[in-house]
Amino acid sequence: MSTLFNRDIISIGDLSKDEIQAVLGQAAEFEQQLARGERATVGQTLLNRVLATVFYEPSTRTRLSFESAMNRLGGRVVSVAEAKTSSSAAKGETIYDSGRMLESYADVIVQRHPATGSARALADAAGVPVINAGDGTGEHPTQALLDLYTIQREGAEGGALRSLDGLHVAMVGDLKNGRTVHSLSKALSHWNVTLSYVAPPELAMPQDVVSFVQSRGATVHQTTDVTAALKTADIAYITRIQQERFPSVEEYLKLKGVYVISADVVARAKPGIAIMHPLPRVDEITTDVDTLPNAAYFRQARNGVFVRMALLAMVLGAV
Ligand code: NCD
Repeated sequence: MSTLFNRDIISIGDLSKDEIQAVLGQAAEFEQQLARGERATVGQTLLNRVLATVFYEPSTRTRLSFESAMNRLGGRVVSVAEAKTSSSAAKGETIYDSGRMLESYADVIVQRHPATGSARALADAAGVPVINAGDGTGEHPTQALLDLYTIQREGAEGGALRSLDGLHVAMVGDLKNGRTVHSLSKALSHWNVTLSYVAPPELAMPQDVVSFVQSRGATVHQTTDVTAALKTADIAYITRIQQERFPSVEEYLKLKGVYVISADVVARAKPGIAIMHPLPRVDEITTDVDTLPNAAYFRQARNGVFVRMALLAMVLGAV
């Protein structure tokens, strides 16, 4: 049984390098089983288990891919999609109380919430595993796992997963408020990587993340020059300017559109570069990129199902 059995997944730092590799390996196993048409076998994995998804912030991919993952494993899902307005939180219920209640409704809970630290608070209250699906500007560990899986798959020959050692990953956009890049940076720092952080000074990567990845041996470049960074990067990880984290619309408008990746930009980048994005995109990747072989973001979203299947199966002790 996996060492992840019965564990909370709050920060990507909760997982060792071996555990991360085990999740990615299990994700590949589920992907292959489904590709071979073994739906019925896969669908026995979590029979009679229940997942609760509780989302206090908007989500399409994360919630639906968790729910799809649970369904593909044969489990069942109970869900509050707009917890802010439609759950008892709107009546003033605390995270602690909802955790005490949800533990009797589900075997595992996936929560997204606008407050950093909210996933930890729920995990402390609930007696069943809690998976953080995004806590404010904090972390988004399951996105980091599917991002790693995608990076390995994009460069892979013949279906194998490529090594992450030696890769140069450029992260572009709102590195201050984007939780996906915080978790992905920490995850990548288990390997020997070069990270280019491309952002205007107002949206720079928080210093605690920079110091953390440097302490693990990653080479870090901070720059505002996206064209130069993409000339040597193997992966360009583009992010949305996180409008909802800005104090005012005016502040947001000052930085909106600061980096736009078009087919022209890709043509001047390192040949074979993979363009990733956690989605949703606003205007930071133009649609003429979508038809290029470099555009990995829809494949990335698809990979979320396999990675979340692996995580659910491991946390619930089925594999
Ligand atoms: C991201 C998030 O919610 O942090 N979306 C996602 O889960 N794929 C990125 C974003 O909202 O910009």
